[in-house]
Amino acid sequence: MKTIVLLFLLAASIATSHGIEHGIDYNIYPLRMKSGSGGHYINGITCSSWRLGVEAHNIIEWKTIPQECEGYVGNYVLGVEYRQDSKAVNREAYFYARSLDLIKDGKNIWVFDVDETTLSNLPYYANHGFGVEPYNSTAFNEWVGLGIAPALPESQKLYHKLLSLGIKIVFLTGRLESQRDITVKNLKDAGYSTWEKLIVKDATKYKGKTAVTYKSSERKKLEEEGYRIIGNIGDQWSDILGTNTGNRTFKLPDPLYYIA
Ligand SMILES: *[C@@H]1O[C@H](CO)[C@@H](O)[C@H](O)[C@H]1NC(C)=O
Ligand SMILES: *[C@@H]1O[C@H](CO)[C@@H](O)[C@H](O)[C@H]1NC(C)=O
Ligand SMILES: [Mg+2]
Repeated sequence: MKTIVLLFLLAASIATSHGIEHGIDYNIYPLRMKSGSGGHYINGITCSSWRLGVEAHNIIEWKTIPQECEGYVGNYVLGVEYRQDSKAVNREAYFYARSLDLIKDGKNIWVFDVDETTLSNLPYYANHGFGVEPYNSTAFNEWVGLGIAPALPESQKLYHKLLSLGIKIVFLTGRLESQRDITVKNLKDAGYSTWEKLIVKDATKYKGKTAVTYKSSERKKLEEEGYRIIGNIGDQWSDILGTNTGNRTFKLPDPLYYIA
């Protein structure tokens, strides 16, 4: 009986579809079924739905962003939203770190990815269609070689706060051993003055291996060395999936590219 009354009320409210409650003007029209003669409500998916799917790791293994989303992604990353989304993640990470009662033996570390986590390649992507163009390793590595990638400001705040809490920083990146020196210079120039380790990829050892495998294996080594990974932050799911991921992981926004 209760169910019937509820259904009736629901049907009645859908029929009304519009009203004002608690001073909020609401309109539930978008929840109406749109099959049959009503036609399709959404043709394909919108770019914001695509981005949400990417961030939630429902849309995976994509090579480029949808052509029609270049403007949307460009506006997102160059506007305030990207910064605000980054801030929401980084401050949550800080609240978590601050809440811990850590053993002060110098073994607590926080793993940071580099690209789109610590350093931003936005100047490069702005010139390459914000991810519309297929990845070009030659062009991208030329950019990395310049060593002028700016810091991601919200991540940098977290970096400084973690250091002040006595947590050590380990950078774990898919950049190669041949890019170590320029990465060190870039990190320092961008304001990252200190770290416990900078782990770069051994191209021979991890040839053909995914980022998940590489990063899991390097984090395992860190734990075997006696470090405790209390936090781990990256812009790719492959930074935070796999094994030895740390006590908590944090996913930064990145609608530009996907790395398995
Ligand atoms: C990749 O980038 C290099 C260097 O900028 C360029 O010479 C080459 O034509 C690009 N390749 C493609 C397929 O666009
Ligand atoms: C991290 O996880 C390990 C294993 O579950 C646990 O023993 C440890 O207390 C946790 N550390 C923190 C700082 O939460
Ligand atoms: Mg990254």
